[in-house]
Amino acid sequence: MTAFRDGPRGDPDTLVESLTLAEKLRLLHGARDPEGVSTGYLPPNDERGIPPLRLVDGPLGVRAGEATAFPASIALAATWDGDLAREQGEALGRETRAKGQDGLLAPGLNLIRVPHGGRNFEYYSEDPWLTSRTAVSVVEGIQSEGAIATAKHYVANSQEAERTTIDARIGERALRECYLRGFEAAVREAGVGSVMCAYNGVNGESMSDNRRLLTEVLRDEWDFSGYVVSDWWATGDPVDSATAGLDLEMPGYALDAESQFGVAPSELPLSMPDVEEGGRYGEPLRAAVDVGAVGEGRIDTMVRRVLETMERFGSESRNAEEVDTVDHPEVARRVAIEGSVLLKNEGVLPIDPGIETLAVIGPNADRPALGGGGSSEVTPAHAVSPLAGLREHLAGEVSFERGVSPIRGVRFFDEGEADEPDDEPSIEAAVAAAERADATVLVARDVATEGTDRPSLSLPGSQDALIEAVADVAGELVVVLNTSGAVEMPWLDSVPALLETWYPGQDDGIALAAVLTGEEPGGRLPVTFGREDDYGFDEASYPGVDGRVEYDEGLLVGYRGFDAREVEPYYPFGHGLSYTEFEYGPLEAPDRIPVGKPVSVSVTVENVGDRPGKEVVQLYVASEVAGRPPRELAGFSTTRLAPGERRDVEVSLDPRSFLGYDPVREDWIPVTEEGTIEVGRSSRDLRGAIPVGIDPE
Ligand code: BGC
Repeated sequence: MTAFRDGPRGDPDTLVESLTLAEKLRLLHGARDPEGVSTGYLPPNDERGIPPLRLVDGPLGVRAGEATAFPASIALAATWDGDLAREQGEALGRETRAKGQDGLLAPGLNLIRVPHGGRNFEYYSEDPWLTSRTAVSVVEGIQSEGAIATAKHYVANSQEAERTTIDARIGERALRECYLRGFEAAVREAGVGSVMCAYNGVNGESMSDNRRLLTEVLRDEWDFSGYVVSDWWATGDPVDSATAGLDLEMPGYALDAESQFGVAPSELPLSMPDVEEGGRYGEPLRAAVDVGAVGEGRIDTMVRRVLETMERFGSESRNAEEVDTVDHPEVARRVAIEGSVLLKNEGVLPIDPGIETLAVIGPNADRPALGGGGSSEVTPAHAVSPLAGLREHLAGEVSFERGVSPIRGVRFFDEGEADEPDDEPSIEAAVAAAERADATVLVARDVATEGTDRPSLSLPGSQDALIEAVADVAGELVVVLNTSGAVEMPWLDSVPALLETWYPGQDDGIALAAVLTGEEPGGRLPVTFGREDDYGFDEASYPGVDGRVEYDEGLLVGYRGFDAREVEPYYPFGHGLSYTEFEYGPLEAPDRIPVGKPVSVSVTVENVGDRPGKEVVQLYVASEVAGRPPRELAGFSTTRLAPGERRDVEVSLDPRSFLGYDPVREDWIPVTEEGTIEVGRSSRDLRGAIPVGIDPE
């Protein structure tokens, strides 16, 4: 093993042997960063030549001073573009290093199980394959720049309601096939350097002392060699956690909520664990070693994992200038454009850039949608609101009416939230503006935050009434949604164009103006957009009863459940329109699929419209086996075609296609002898299907 990149320490094994118990424990729990920058910090041991370890949030950008505010993670997944995800990962890794940090507390890989989830915007998808592909690209990107990525929150932190105590009861098949899949890919395919365990419990054991998942699955099955870090203040009993496989406690000290948030801990506006406890891997763990409850060999293993990961990535800082010299804002802008999902378009879009009058309406249309609340907040150096972006882009007159009072987002860290405006918004004024204009863009938003779930899927405030009133008078109307996922759309039939841009980040308005005036909105839905009552939850399955939430739907998460129950959502998983039209030729696949082996399938796609376009060719595998989802995403490929252009698109199939996890044999086995491969533009717009035989391994 080589020496740490910026110090003379030598090999971690010899180093561990030479450390005193006190020095070892010092490497297992965090402390305050004297510079006040890191979210998680391990102090250096200069005598032994051990540098500090500095970890920083988070998935939408680096939460340290000013940094590029990327679009929400769900927007990145909506691009269905692994190359772009990798580029965003690289930019995140470079900024982490440029800020003098060693590791980024990202990506968030929890599956989007309930549409209400307060952190859904920090996650990728309801689908395990899309989640795992995006995860691999992002982790590889971050780590290619020398920063440690952190796959979080392991596992089943799919709701914020009672997040620190809820026990998720999940059957083994669903756990393996759905919830663990993204983490497994991050570990086995991308070699992620660290994993953060979740606050919640799984099947009766809190994740911070869940030996089965932290050791038997993560280490013994997947060969994870990095360190497991706790979620903040999540470490429970030090003996249980240390023996279960939790290596590093963060933040390692009690929070002074009064100084950080100006409130007593009990009044923190989000569900938090006991922030007055910290340092359980300090004195309490030492006491446990003294009485033999934890062996020193165990401590050595934990220390070695931390040191080896530091060794693997080095701790060299980059010049802070690099944040500005590399064009990260351009990456953020592209993700915002490519992740915008055109849900509906009855001849309204694109808007002619030469339009004479445009009305921009919406309570927050003069503010960029940077993200939701919580640890993922980022403070950008500059940000462009929808209104500013459209005014800059269009030569004609752009009027603005708020319509209803601003929707207050939740921001804990970012100081940039705009002040209360002094105008008095009215729906009448908004209607009058829409009547006067040639076209209207109405921007609506939800409120999502870490620590709390959305109480309902309805747009907050009086936004539904505003949309209905404006839709009555505006002919050329586009509703733009800045939301974390599905919302109720009682006005859908009267709105001719609908665009979901999630939280687009710092270049919100620039990306929006580009898409509205003709740049291809490249996104496809990474989650089903259903009506609140159609998700099929009862109290026991969400938010849970008596501290337990039953994952009764098993494998039927998201569209799998909508398909099995034959419920028509507003918009299905994978949906997204283009500004052009595509035609599909016949699907070509081998007659027999050797399971577990690489297989690729091809289809000819032609752009039959008159504009260039991006198509996301989606493959689904279907089998009529009782208890299995009717169809499952098993591959996708993103391609760009000029007008009239036609291409054979090759798509490789998920090697686990037609396999299911058998909890008795503890292995993946074929679920059927014959199945179907389907190709389509979404999970409900299928353009071809081909029967295949399945050959066992
Ligand atoms: C969140 C983590 C985050 C950590 C540090 C926790 O509350 O769940 O995602 O990385 O805080 O800010």
